[in-house]
Amino acid sequence: MVDDGHSPDHKYDYDLVVIGGGSGGLACSKEAAAFGAKVAVLDFVKPSPHGSVWGLGGTCVNVGCIPKKLMHYAALVKESIKYDAEPFGISTSATTSSSMPHSWESLRENVQNHIHGLNFKYRVNLRENNVVYLNKLGKFLDSHNMEVIDKKGTVSKISSSRFVVAVGGRPTPLECEGGELAISSDDLFSLNEDPGRVLCVGASYISLECAGFLAGLGHDVTVAVRSILLRGFDRECAEKIGSYMSDHGVIFRKEVIPTRLEKVPSVEGMKERIQVTFSDGTTDIYDTVVAAIGRTADTKKLGLESVNVAVEPGNAKIPAKYEQTSCPNIYVIGDCMKGCPELTPVAIEAGVALARRLFNGSKVPMDYKNVCTTVFTPVEYGCVGLSEEEAIETYGEDNIDVFHKSFFPLEWTLSYPRQEHQAFTKVIVLKSSQSVLGIHYVGPNAGEVMQGYGVAMKKRITFQDLLDTVGIHPTCSEEIVTLKVTKRSGLDATAGGC
Ligand SMILES: Cc1cc2nc3c(=O)[nH]c(=O)nc-3n(C[C@H](O)[C@H](O)[C@H](O)COP(=O)(O)OP(=O)(O)OC[C@H]3O[C@@H](n4cnc5c(N)ncnc54)[C@H](O)[C@@H]3O)c2cc1C
Ligand SMILES: NC(=O)c1ccc[n+]([C@@H]2O[C@H](COP(=O)([O-])OP(=O)(O)OC[C@H]3O[C@@H](n4cnc5c(N)ncnc54)[C@H](OP(=O)(O)O)[C@@H]3O)[C@@H](O)[C@H]2O)c1
Repeated sequence: MVDDGHSPDHKYDYDLVVIGGGSGGLACSKEAAAFGAKVAVLDFVKPSPHGSVWGLGGTCVNVGCIPKKLMHYAALVKESIKYDAEPFGISTSATTSSSMPHSWESLRENVQNHIHGLNFKYRVNLRENNVVYLNKLGKFLDSHNMEVIDKKGTVSKISSSRFVVAVGGRPTPLECEGGELAISSDDLFSLNEDPGRVLCVGASYISLECAGFLAGLGHDVTVAVRSILLRGFDRECAEKIGSYMSDHGVIFRKEVIPTRLEKVPSVEGMKERIQVTFSDGTTDIYDTVVAAIGRTADTKKLGLESVNVAVEPGNAKIPAKYEQTSCPNIYVIGDCMKGCPELTPVAIEAGVALARRLFNGSKVPMDYKNVCTTVFTPVEYGCVGLSEEEAIETYGEDNIDVFHKSFFPLEWTLSYPRQEHQAFTKVIVLKSSQSVLGIHYVGPNAGEVMQGYGVAMKKRITFQDLLDTVGIHPTCSEEIVTLKVTKRSGLDATAGGC
């Protein structure tokens, strides 16, 4: 890192001001304060274009991971009652989707109450950790001074020796005519009314996760896919997710984007709806359109031009080396940093590692490689390391082996409709060294399954290490340590019994 000029006897208000009280900012500020630094964190939520606002904690807790996972779980509960109750001998008169009404309002209210509790805990937590919380919007005046504005529009100034920019991102709006009629993930989880018939635009994490839980809860859901599902992920696994979701009620409209959204006036007591014209000329009518076409870093009005920090064209992310921007005393972490995977634990780890380097003499940089992740679609998908396509591109097809297996999770075996799809795993191995390059798993509890394999990948395991590990029976995870069949062999890769 370049010397940032920090000295303990500086003349500024704070040693560190963190701009953004989300996953990364909260973690960084608390860690820095733990080393005795005088720290303030600024967090201010600008309303979404539809007016949604929320409390302290950033995207993950308010409009991201937490409400998403709870709603995903709601859909899994409903699916489990539908498919599993009867074969497992649990008596319920409500075994079909139509006779199992779902109350969006109850779910929304319970989820929001949980979030409000977390917002409160975060505030207390900051106080207990000696971090000053300022519910104010910050803008750089120069490299040590910031203008801050509160909810009432009162302007003041603060100064700091160092800054960490952790402002995250916001959903990229739909650019087409009438695009402002679409809501985004910033609005969906707190939507007052049941979303009704829904169009999700986009085909990556957010769109597919939202489409998945909405369909699972009984909504009529269409996904507008511009090109492919889950770009960047292993193609075979992405296709399995698409196929599972199609068979569970999600309609995929391939290779279309909306070109026009217009209001359809309410008739006979029905609420206003939205007519969508697609790029292939077709039209359809929805109650709700959710735009999930990516996120743009929230750096526009941060005054970065005053500190000569340029942002990337397009996604507005800030380039950095070891989280240090081109202005040496201004650092950046999380979703708004160029090259940072947009994941909560990554923002947290990067924030903690940076605070240790700035205030406790650590030399350990954040390691952005081999981060495991899970897509919480109706059938979940967890992975770590390279996709098969990336492995082929990097090492050449002849130099890798792909071990794979399709199998029925034991929990699915009593329910006939569950048996239309199998769970799946593949491990990609570099032939020369037997190093594991990637681990992929499509099936129940993928996040729980994949976390431990993430540790293994950090330790640079070989395929033999996996085989030497005794499995836990009967689990899905054990399938990953008992793989024998390579794709190249052409042998049947369907699991038998134990
Ligand atoms: C729908 C959805 C689902 C997701 N699901 C997952 C998941 O399952 N797992 C996962 O790991 N990740 C998930 N993510 C991604 C995860 O939420 C983000 O990676 C994470 O929140 C990034 O943290 P951050 O600290 O970089 O930014 P954020 O959490 O976005 O925090 C930034 C904060 O800065 C504030 N701010 C912005 N500008 C200013 C300013 N000028 N002054 C003061 N405050 C400002 C913002 O209001 C915000 O509170 C999901 C995201 C979405 C949208
Ligand atoms: N479970 C999790 O951990 C989780 C969950 C949610 C979000 N996240 C994080 O949040 C990040 C953002 O997720 P995201 O799904 O919003 O964005 P994303 O990963 O950037 O994907 C954007 C999607 O929108 C499509 N798209 C882009 N522009 C479009 C347009 N103009 N019209 C129609 N479609 C368009 C893209 O299609 P193309 O492929 O054609 O470009 C792609 O399918 C993710 O990268 C992830 O790190 C994580």
